[in-house]
Amino acid sequence: MMQLQRSNAGSDNEVVKQTYETARDCLKTNYYGVKQLTEALIPLLQKSNSATIVNVSSSVGKLRFGIPNEKAKRVLGDTDSLREEEVDNLVEEFMEDVKQSLVEAKVWPAKLSAYIVSKAALNAYTRALAKTYPDIAINAVSPSFTRTDINENTGMLTVEEGAKGPVELAWLPDSRVSGLYFEQTELSTFD
Ligand SMILES: NC(=O)c1ccc[n+]([C@@H]2O[C@H](COP(=O)([O-])OP(=O)(O)OC[C@H]3O[C@@H](n4cnc5c(N)ncnc54)[C@H](OP(=O)(O)O)[C@@H]3O)[C@@H](O)[C@H]2O)c1
Repeated sequence: MMQLQRSNAGSDNEVVKQTYETARDCLKTNYYGVKQLTEALIPLLQKSNSATIVNVSSSVGKLRFGIPNEKAKRVLGDTDSLREEEVDNLVEEFMEDVKQSLVEAKVWPAKLSAYIVSKAALNAYTRALAKTYPDIAINAVSPSFTRTDINENTGMLTVEEGAKGPVELAWLPDSRVSGLYFEQTELSTFD
């Protein structure tokens, strides 16, 4: 699932200005929506011995690449003790900064900050969840720049090429491959 704030059809220059409402909707869809769906499905997945969760993320959520805010980088990059609650707290902190017009002052990403934060939070959630449920293969993957509505079909890859990574991960029910981030079909890093 995704939501990116965009104006009517047009060029990249027309990516709309982020408001509190668009940022909130973006986080609700890309982060909280995934969490709620996951929580609802976990009891069913636990009945299976080959369960997989594939969270469709984006390279913009990589910490060094997309997140200039040092605290966010530290919290979301804490692989040893990262917990879901901390990811939630950070997302709430971001939303409060949006509300107070402090996005720039608090060094959040300058453009598309809600989308970027939603994907960084999704990545961190993926890692925390994989620790909580070691018997489920839980990973995040970026399809890479793919021709779909989100970019008004300007992407480099066809839909079939973009779908390859998520589909391959969905067909890999090996819980030893878990808590990882992939770029298309290649193993990558969260930072
Ligand atoms: N395409 C790329 O270059 C690219 C790159 C990196 C990551 N991604 C990620 O890949 C995933 C798939 O995106 P896509 O490229 O396939 O984009 P897309 O063609 O624009 O599809 C987005 C999907 O999200 C649904 N959606 C949007 N807002 C929603 C909401 N509030 N509640 C429920 N569903 C909502 C849309 O439903 P409707 O059709 O009903 O509106 C649509 O099915 C997203 O997570 C995106 O962030 C894409």
